[in-house]
Amino acid sequence: MTEIAIVKTHAEAGRIAADLIVAALATRDEPTLGLATGSTPLPVWSALAERSLDLSAVRGFALDEYVGLPPGHPESYRAVVDRDIVAPLGLDPRRVRVPGDDECPLTEAGERYEAAIADAGGIDLQILGIGRTGHIGFNEPGSSLASRTRLKALTPATRADNARFFDSIDDVPTHCLTQGIGTILDARVLVLLAFGETKAPAVAAAVEGPLTSSCPASAIQLHRRAVVIVDEAAAARLEHRDYYRFAWDHREIATA
Ligand code: GLP
Repeated sequence: MTEIAIVKTHAEAGRIAADLIVAALATRDEPTLGLATGSTPLPVWSALAERSLDLSAVRGFALDEYVGLPPGHPESYRAVVDRDIVAPLGLDPRRVRVPGDDECPLTEAGERYEAAIADAGGIDLQILGIGRTGHIGFNEPGSSLASRTRLKALTPATRADNARFFDSIDDVPTHCLTQGIGTILDARVLVLLAFGETKAPAVAAAVEGPLTSSCPASAIQLHRRAVVIVDEAAAARLEHRDYYRFAWDHREIATA
């Protein structure tokens, strides 16, 4: 089931996602949260931090990481996760993993990461943003819908989008390690957020387009519990948005 919430404010999106996270974290003693970087999930972390929960037992797994940045680089996803998520939420940094964070050849990093997720009992809830290319994590168009954590090349469009975090586009890494689409689909709940008109085509392709590796995010259509939270601008190209609004407003009946 894909549920779609069209929200008026980013704070509302954060509150809805935080409610879903709280419910997912209550299912186990040492629950696991799939972490996403990017600007879109920031209201989620703020809403969760406001609840002042003890999250020290939570294990975190980031979606992806650049390859080739020097250790401690402020734009490495390890640094971003520590700054934007671990510190404000009070997570235990030793329990938060980022792909490639244990020293091993890049060719083995994916398998090691998959093994760590499996050891933790899988991911209870995965937060997702979406790229203009329709990527989730860094699964660019053409990614196998069965893929696992692995090394990938970034598209020129993604490198251009992420150049704002670096001095120039030449400084944006060319490669990354990312959870695969198959890895993401194994999470028990998916929560995908998107804001702004630049995301509207990717959101429409993900939610209503054909299931295709040309829009890797369309794989969420295969998931049994995916919640898509979008603002009005990101929802603008959804053909069935009035229906989604109606269904969301009456969701208590569907889940009763
Ligand atoms: C990056 C990340 C994605 C993220 C995307 C969108 O490329 N690898 O996980 O979803 O950017 O970022 P933003 O939310 O800042 O638009």
